[in-house]
Amino acid sequence: IASTFWLAIAIEIPKITNTTLIGVYALVSFSSSVLVYVRSYLSALLGLKASTAFFSSFTTAIFNSPMLFFDSTPVGRILTRASSDLSILDFDIPCSITFVASIAIEILVIICVMVSVTWQVLIVAVPAMVASIFIQQYYQATATQLIRINGTTKAPVMNFAAETSLGVVTIRAFKMVDRFFENYLKLVDTDASLFFHSNVTMEWVVLRIEALQNLTVITLALLLILLPQGYVSPGLVGLSLSYAFTLTGNQINWTRWFSNLSNYIISVERIKQFIHIPAEPPAIVDNNRPPSSWPSTGKIDLQGLEIRYRPNAPLVLKGITCTFKEGSRVGVVGRTGSGKSTLISALFRLVEPSRGYILIDGMNICSMGLKDLRTRLSIIPQEPTLFKGSIRTNMDPLGLYSDDEIWKVN
Ligand SMILES: Nc1ncnc2c1ncn2[C@@H]1O[C@H](COP(=O)(O)OP(=O)(O)OP(=O)(O)O)[C@@H](O)[C@H]1O
Ligand SMILES: [Mg+2]
Repeated sequence: IASTFWLAIAIEIPKITNTTLIGVYALVSFSSSVLVYVRSYLSALLGLKASTAFFSSFTTAIFNSPMLFFDSTPVGRILTRASSDLSILDFDIPCSITFVASIAIEILVIICVMVSVTWQVLIVAVPAMVASIFIQQYYQATATQLIRINGTTKAPVMNFAAETSLGVVTIRAFKMVDRFFENYLKLVDTDASLFFHSNVTMEWVVLRIEALQNLTVITLALLLILLPQGYVSPGLVGLSLSYAFTLTGNQINWTRWFSNLSNYIISVERIKQFIHIPAEPPAIVDNNRPPSSWPSTGKIDLQGLEIRYRPNAPLVLKGITCTFKEGSRVGVVGRTGSGKSTLISALFRLVEPSRGYILIDGMNICSMGLKDLRTRLSIIPQEPTLFKGSIRTNMDPLGLYSDDEIWKVN
């Protein structure tokens, strides 16, 4: 705008040479391109810094969260946070912050230009601006809720796809493909309809703001025609009018970007919810580390062990007191749901005892660090998992032992 403004005033100066005219114009244009470069660079740099910080706290929080969190949170929800919400943080937020700020400055400058030529336009421009802000707020209340709901409809689509692909053999065996496909389409429809409604509300707000800004432009044009001749220079009239025409477009762009930004910020909110999950107990408790030979014999003592999965859920293990002698093989028998797996997970403190103790070789496992405890015990679970890689990496995932040691165990 500065360069065009220069042209508008310069033609009024009687003895200006072409060289000065073009020189100043080129200088102003060049410095504005340098500033645009700096703007993009800064927004990329700062955006990247912010999203790196969020990403690392997010992954740390997920990896340190207790098993209870994974029981109560569908995988789909974690996946959407880690994919779409984080990608919004990576690209969309820095980009839209830049646009919101730069378009706002542009609008302000255009208004200044208009006012400097004919201040009377303010009589219409100010009320129009205030009205636009009201409309924007009215829209925002709905849009925010729509985006929030949209955030919850995406995860079921992913969950459903993941779960049906796991159970596809069973689904085909019972000839239920059509039913599952129909359910899937329903979920996709729910998700898409919210997207549609978001867009429709956006068009609603754009239409109103466009009308208001057009009012300002018409007033300006009328004023320019009605003002007495010679009141303003023709160069400035042209300038004012040509920028006034871009005002509508700019205001709409700003509204779009501002609404997008407010919607994107909800992703930050969602990621922050995950960052604040209470973490598991510490991995290592420095003043209570077991000796390196622990557990040397493997005697397990349970004393009045009570376990519940949630603070107000019923007890699953109701005060078990018993001793498993060292070096013996013990079978635990019980009907399904009687708590056999719970007993094993208690040894690894996947669920913490709500009362009672577990002593292994005389040490209370609840007072030591989780890493110390879990690296010393081994488990072959009900549903085994083979990690990608060689048999060797599966046997020693952390690469702590030499080949010889592993062969000896075999
Ligand atoms: N993650 C969980 N959250 C809440 N309750 C759970 C959880 N896991 C198990 N339970 C409940 O704890 C009880 C014991 O379950 P557990 O899995 O230990 O039984 P189990 O004896 O291993 O059964 P199965 O023979 O089927 O493997 C059940 O009533 C079950 O509903
Ligand atoms: Mg079990």
